[in-house]
Amino acid sequence: MLRSLLFLLPLAGATTIESRSSQECPGYKASNIQQDATSLTADLTLAGAPCNSYGTDLKDLRLLVEYQTDERLHVIIYDVDEEVYQVPESVLPRVGSNENSNNDTVLGFDYVEEPFSFTVSKGDEVLFDTSASTLVFQSQYLKLRTWLPDDPYLYGLGEHSDPLRLPTNNYTRTLWNRDAYGTPNHTNLYGSHPVYYDHRGKSGTHGVFLLNSNGMDIKINKTTEGKQYLEYNALGGVFDFYFFYGENPKQASIEYSKIVGSPAMQSYWTLGFHNCRYGYRDVYELAEVVYNYSQANIPLETMWTDIDYMDKRRVFTLDPQRFPLEKMRELVTYLHNHDQHYIVMVDPAVSVSNNSAYNKGLQQGVFLHTQNGSLYEGAVWPGVTVFPDWFHSDTQDYWTGQFDNFFDAESGVDIDGLWIDMNEASNFCPYPCTDPAGFAISDNLPPAAPPVRPSSPRPLPGFPADFQPSSKRSLKRAQGGKGSKAGLPNRNLTDPPYTIQNAAGVLSMSTIQTDIIHAGEGYAEYDTHNIYGTMMSTASRLAMQSRRPDVRPLVITRSTYAGAGAHVGHWLGDNLSDWAHYRISIAQIVAFASMFQIPMVGADVCGFGSNTTEELCSRWASLGAFYTFYRDHNELGNIPQEFYRWPTVAESARKAIDIRYRLLDYIYTSLHRQSQTGEPFLQPLFYLYPEDSNTFANDLQFFYGDAILVSPVTNEGSTSVNAYFPDDIFYDWYTGAVVRGHGASLTLSNVNLTHIPIHIRGGNIVPVRSSSAMTTTEVREKGFELIIAPGLNGTASGSLYLDDGDSPEPSAVTEIEFEYSNGVLHIQGEFGQDTPATVEKCTLLGESGRTEVTQSFELSGSKEVKLK
Ligand code: NOJ
Repeated sequence: MLRSLLFLLPLAGATTIESRSSQECPGYKASNIQQDATSLTADLTLAGAPCNSYGTDLKDLRLLVEYQTDERLHVIIYDVDEEVYQVPESVLPRVGSNENSNNDTVLGFDYVEEPFSFTVSKGDEVLFDTSASTLVFQSQYLKLRTWLPDDPYLYGLGEHSDPLRLPTNNYTRTLWNRDAYGTPNHTNLYGSHPVYYDHRGKSGTHGVFLLNSNGMDIKINKTTEGKQYLEYNALGGVFDFYFFYGENPKQASIEYSKIVGSPAMQSYWTLGFHNCRYGYRDVYELAEVVYNYSQANIPLETMWTDIDYMDKRRVFTLDPQRFPLEKMRELVTYLHNHDQHYIVMVDPAVSVSNNSAYNKGLQQGVFLHTQNGSLYEGAVWPGVTVFPDWFHSDTQDYWTGQFDNFFDAESGVDIDGLWIDMNEASNFCPYPCTDPAGFAISDNLPPAAPPVRPSSPRPLPGFPADFQPSSKRSLKRAQGGKGSKAGLPNRNLTDPPYTIQNAAGVLSMSTIQTDIIHAGEGYAEYDTHNIYGTMMSTASRLAMQSRRPDVRPLVITRSTYAGAGAHVGHWLGDNLSDWAHYRISIAQIVAFASMFQIPMVGADVCGFGSNTTEELCSRWASLGAFYTFYRDHNELGNIPQEFYRWPTVAESARKAIDIRYRLLDYIYTSLHRQSQTGEPFLQPLFYLYPEDSNTFANDLQFFYGDAILVSPVTNEGSTSVNAYFPDDIFYDWYTGAVVRGHGASLTLSNVNLTHIPIHIRGGNIVPVRSSSAMTTTEVREKGFELIIAPGLNGTASGSLYLDDGDSPEPSAVTEIEFEYSNGVLHIQGEFGQDTPATVEKCTLLGESGRTEVTQSFELSGSKEVKLK
């Protein structure tokens, strides 16, 4: 039911304002208010002379308020003519009132007629109150400010490398996707997620999602009187707000997934350990790295190759000398024969000297053009490039065609997953890019002439003859919204009157020129810049699905927009090999996984830029094992950092991978749950202890699912960590020892370089494989151990989801719930798999230590198992 509306008398009458200050804009007056049980509409008319501070004030707007579900309120303020750009439905499908409301709406909407402002409240508590400033809706500028309580706990507004709990003083979050080497804090990074979460302890958590893809500055600050506010300053689009409420932060994340879509489920193998490096010399070096990992007994699931494999960095080509097709196919076959996988990078920019991909794209007309009709050219790794226009109706066909051909399983590079990069989009040619050919990018490139294979390479036992020193290597060539309109006319699309704090400079700097008009509806890059990477993600996912419809496609992207998790995973881009990046990766991964619903996420382990150290890499090898996406990657020019390079790093990796692999089905089960319900897997501490204010700003520990608390050492030279333990019972993963938390920090000491403290949270049953193995395929053949960690009330529960690990829609699934109480384990669920899994032992944790009950049984039907 719509709450009763609160009408207040108009305040002062409108005055004529000539000033250019948005503070003095007249705001709007609401009239023609219509309401029914679940919605409200009104006309909003400019309440005075336009102030035209950063563009032209729009005179006539419409307000639509929809009570979409009990926990979700949609408030959109848009132009009457619907000319203003809105994020296309093809990029982010809209949700409607798709749930039955119990007529018990949690969120209330009230408004003031003039100057128009509105509040969203929960009971007596105001959550959002736009009376903090007059509403500004101009052709190139939107402004709305909401009051917030003092000292609020705010999160989200990614992508950033700032603390998980956002600063509340003089803080600006700029959303304008950019290639952000070194991921500096307080700047805009690769992705845009205009959603914030406001956690209010006992009163629950609400989120505010502004579905707007324009560049924006979101300011969190206090007035001179000390009143706290959050203010949106956007370069266009409409105010399309989704307010959602959860009784706790976890529930709020679930509500967000209902708006932007729950994440794509990944294949089991993708959870294995991945290795990459920018700068691998040739296919032989790839083979050597694979070999070295196996010699070092470090399970390598997936080998990756950066742009090095390409012929002069051109997408959809192979370097004929260093990465000839025949050898690449041999390498991939070798990997597949050993249950390992292979992934390569694809960038969006297509080289103008790439005959096949370029000519085909030209023929299909799918590249971006400038307004004078010429091809838009920039410069990326291969030199002069053009960029696919994802809005063109033939671009999907073009992209899929390139994939079908180049990645053909029978005759091309048979990849298992895909890495997409530079899709903000990044452009090395500075704006205005008048001479991309003249732009010197050689500093960024590896040597043009590939070094030859070392004269006496070492033997690689187990690899084909071609990879051995004596063999003759042939150097054959590779074979190759509503859907609103384009936006208002008369806008300055490259230099708008309002300037956002884009760390790259003007809007078009180091990216695609923003006055480009896309094919189809004619959207401007100015409006759609922030969705370029997500559109490439979806197109790439579809292309991967086209070549292998029988498996779930893994696509890891750099640039993201809200909702991207439904299609892809994300890595955090070009971090640096330093302790600050190691630490901040925790806040970043938990925000992506829980608040932005992109659970397949990880940072470059050991750091991408600059040289790592043995100590940092040892710590990171074990921290990274608790990301969902676990990959070692670093940059050309820095020392190599494969895990086998140092004894402690190798040892740390072996130990952590052993734990991770035993936990694979726990991870898989949790990710499956998130893909179905949005319930987050990786979480900050306050997600599970929402009333314990000590947890609210903790971003150096995290929960790996509901059951595992990870507390890494975070300082250089240290062998201890002050880990916070909420008022609850925990059990040391390694010893089973009870740690009774009392809402205080405990110093965990003697944490050597190869060790990472982890604890099982009481109340959980964790299904683990009985032992680890060198590949995830082998792990899947092992039996289970059930670790039962009773909570303070003596009970525990858990679940296990099993399927074939790869099918998009698996037919035979097993989904089991475990409950433990009074010495008895209850097992029930759906047992759809032909070959039931076996439990080999149950381990009961408790004050008196571990009790191991070795009792083998099949997970083939409901049963009860006596443990005491
Ligand atoms: C930038 C990416 O962020 C990095 O991971 C990659 O190695 C380079 N591009 C080269 O492709």
